[in-house]
Amino acid sequence: AVAATPKSSLLNFEAVPASTADTVVVPKGYRATPLISWGDPIFVGAPEFDQSGKQDAHAQAHQFGDNTDGMSFFPLSENRGVMAINNEYTNYEYLFAHKGDQLTADDVRKAQAAVGVTIVEVIRKDGQWQVDRSGQRNRRITANTPMMFTGPAAGHALMRTQADPAGIKPVGTFNNCSNGQTPWGTYLTCEENFDDFFGSNQSGEVTADQKRYGISASPSDYQWHQHDDRFDVLKHPNEANRFGWIVEIDPNDPFSTPMKRTALGRFKHENAALTLNKDGHAVVYLGDDERGEHLYKFVSKHRYQAGNDATNRKLLEEGTLYVAKFDMNVDLKGQGTWIELTFGKNGLTPENGFNDQAEVLIFARRAATQVGATTMDRPEWVAVHPDKKHVFCTLTNNKNRGKDGQPVGGPNPRAKNHYGQILRWMPLHGDHASDSFVWDLYLIAGNPTVHKGDLYAGSDNVNGQNMFNSPDGIGFDAEGRLWIQTDGNYSNQGDFAGQGNNQMLCGDPITGEIRRFLTGPIACEITGLAFSPDYKTMFVGVQHPGEEGAPSHFPDGGDTKPRSTIMMITRDDGGVIGA
Ligand code: FEO
Ligand code: CA
Ligand code: CA
Ligand code: CA
Repeated sequence: AVAATPKSSLLNFEAVPASTADTVVVPKGYRATPLISWGDPIFVGAPEFDQSGKQDAHAQAHQFGDNTDGMSFFPLSENRGVMAINNEYTNYEYLFAHKGDQLTADDVRKAQAAVGVTIVEVIRKDGQWQVDRSGQRNRRITANTPMMFTGPAAGHALMRTQADPAGIKPVGTFNNCSNGQTPWGTYLTCEENFDDFFGSNQSGEVTADQKRYGISASPSDYQWHQHDDRFDVLKHPNEANRFGWIVEIDPNDPFSTPMKRTALGRFKHENAALTLNKDGHAVVYLGDDERGEHLYKFVSKHRYQAGNDATNRKLLEEGTLYVAKFDMNVDLKGQGTWIELTFGKNGLTPENGFNDQAEVLIFARRAATQVGATTMDRPEWVAVHPDKKHVFCTLTNNKNRGKDGQPVGGPNPRAKNHYGQILRWMPLHGDHASDSFVWDLYLIAGNPTVHKGDLYAGSDNVNGQNMFNSPDGIGFDAEGRLWIQTDGNYSNQGDFAGQGNNQMLCGDPITGEIRRFLTGPIACEITGLAFSPDYKTMFVGVQHPGEEGAPSHFPDGGDTKPRSTIMMITRDDGGVIGA
């Protein structure tokens, strides 16, 4: 049972109940207001959103992209900021009047314009933030924006294509899942399920390395390869090697070239949690969101120099990548080590199929397997506590746990894990560059009204009033509240009975207390979190409401199409969110 009086001094709002309503619900004394939805114009003179689905690629390239995901807020002045926002993928059932069964070449260009990143200036008027369509920094970055590679894999033979024989100028970004923000004012966008966009109409085989990343020669549902050759994996087999990276973007310069940072490895990147270590090195924690894949850490070669951002902007070009190995005991806590992924070390040698550092990075998953990394229950976001001593990572779920190569134990303690858990670790001596850490499970999600007396009921901090499944987005505010977003099963039935729609919760990272803060509309996930500098406005992403034809009309109501939307959460009394 939930205590009537809150134990945590951090959580100061009234919990909201689980919900199946087609709306965003927030605690008493709070309100939720849309900032921007898919299709809204981001430039003066750009066309307004049109319900028909008949707008063309040119219109979409001047509007907010689809499926809002990770985002960051960069302050410019007290009442002005610039936001960088991921547009992960796009829903053809809503993007096109014809729902996407058979795409034309222009349809493909429209889909390519609906993904990537949106950069918009926001201004505060009468206490409320809004998009400034006349902002000089406003920009769309899409699947067709010119970019550059940096780091050990730039220019490697595996990166070269007919269109780019030097292998240094990739084009575009897509499946931009979550994000990171650097202390030198840049945005990190993370390429996740890029394999979905590649395919072929011909029959043929792809390599084992391509298969490891989910690439196949069968037709892709997105159909880009039908009209844009570079997405045909049999015609241009190296093109897929140019995706799956962390991309660094300067949100203040709309003419800057996004940089793909190959030193951080290639996998299905979820987010990039950057912290400055006490010795000045930039440390970036990175999850690879796939069943049985791994958790990584990058440590920059050079140190951060306060006030010298021109130099700091090169920090992600060079460094060392590591992958996590956990002990496999059944105590739900233990020790772990970071194993270096450097060519020539730990068996990453020609005898084992690695010829140079570029291959170690391009096929980081294979390198991780080679060194004996722990297979994980889908690492999603990582967040570093403001004390810089504790790091948290959501392990969202993994139906394959317990099968071949994915043993039960360590931080992945349940077979057929359909609820997920939140891992917490502490680097030795608070040193993020250390190879050693201790870990435990901050939370094991479950359903205590369905399961009793086993791990599927969840950990002690889960009860009938705050339960949920599939933690995904996490982030801290300045006071150390842990905000948790879910991307899970919203059937509200069976093992998920009583959990309702996807939602957002707030946790005290020390006491473990968890309280539900927000519930989302029908068939959405909640993903993407940013704050205004005064922490009085929280920006929260509502992604894919009404997916797969579910009956949502969020946020416009009536019989409108559902649209992915960023919501602004504020307090009626103007106070700090959660405080
Ligand atoms: Fe795009 Fe793993 O979430
Ligand atoms: Ca996610
Ligand atoms: Ca997810
Ligand atoms: Ca998603």
